[in-house]
This record gives sequence, structure tokens and C-alpha cells, in this order.
Amino acid sequence: MYDKKIEFSYQEFNSIDELSKEDAWLLNEARDVTQQAYAPYSKFYVGAVAKLANGEIVAGSNQENASFPAGLCAERVLLASVSSIYPKIAIDTIAISYQGNGSVSNHPISPCGVCRQSMQEFEQRTNHPIRLILGGMEGKIFIIPKSSMLLPLAFTSGELL
Ligand code: THU
Repeated sequence: MYDKKIEFSYQEFNSIDELSKEDAWLLNEARDVTQQAYAPYSKFYVGAVAKLANGEIVAGSNQENASFPAGLCAERVLLASVSSIYPKIAIDTIAISYQGNGSVSNHPISPCGVCRQSMQEFEQRTNHPIRLILGGMEGKIFIIPKSSMLLPLAFTSGELL
């Protein structure tokens, strides 16, 4: 028997002012893109903006539906858009922000489990880590160096291909 341990390091910043110019720009884009969300049911508006390895910028926001399970998170809208517009191009960084209805957006939110699974496979198939910048409209910001760090022991395509 062996005890095993998985850990990862990430960075915490007190505010957007501590980020590099490029990262601050991307997070501000994600903040703006929350306004494109279609979230009449949850009234929780998420924006995700990717900087691709070829320098292009692609945005996504959550898109809900009266049939609730048909709704999509901002992150998966973004991944599908990137893959459709720029097939096979890797993603360097995704910034994610949000606005709640009445609640204060002053701390980072983390991608849901399904989106972690989707980002893991995107990383794997492009053979490139996706860096995450997570922050609300104000307050602390997390930078996660590689999205798959958020999904240890993932189920991967290796089991099926
Ligand atoms: N949502 C996202 O877009 N990304 C996340 O990482 C978490 C949740 C959306 C899904 C739904 O439209 C709303 O936020 C409330 O769950």
C-alpha cells in the first residue's frame, strides 16, 4: 500500500491592479462579456474570454434554456466556439468573471465539474495547458496555471481511444 498525494499551486492577487497589463485586459473583457449572457432563469451571468496560441481572442457566455439541462456554461460555449472557429488551435489563457443578480461579485468563481472535464480534454487534444484567470467584478483574483489541475484523476480519452 502506498499513500499518494496530489497538490497544486496557484496564485492569489488582491485586485486586478496586481495583474500584468495583458491579464488585466483579458479579465476586463470577461467582465464585459458577462453582459452577453442569456441567463433569465438563474440571473447568474458568466463571461469567459480566451486568448489563443495564435493571438486571437474568443468570448463565450452562459446560454440558458427553459428546458434547464439544455443550458450551457460560459466555459463550454467558449470551448465549442474556439474549436469551431479555429480548429486545432490551442488556448493559452481563459479569463472568467461573473455577475449575480443582486449578489456582490467580489471573489473568484471556479468552473463547474462538467466544464473542468471539457477543459481537460481540450488541453489534452491540443497538448497545451490552459491558464485560468478567475475573478469577479472586483476583489481577489486567482491564477491557476493549468485548468486540468482542477480535475485530478480525470476520466480521459485514453480509456476510449
Ligand atoms: N455557470 C457558468 O456559466 N459557468 C460556471 O462555471 C458555473 C455556472 C452558469 C450556468 C448557469 O447558467 C448559471 O451559471 C447558474 O448555474
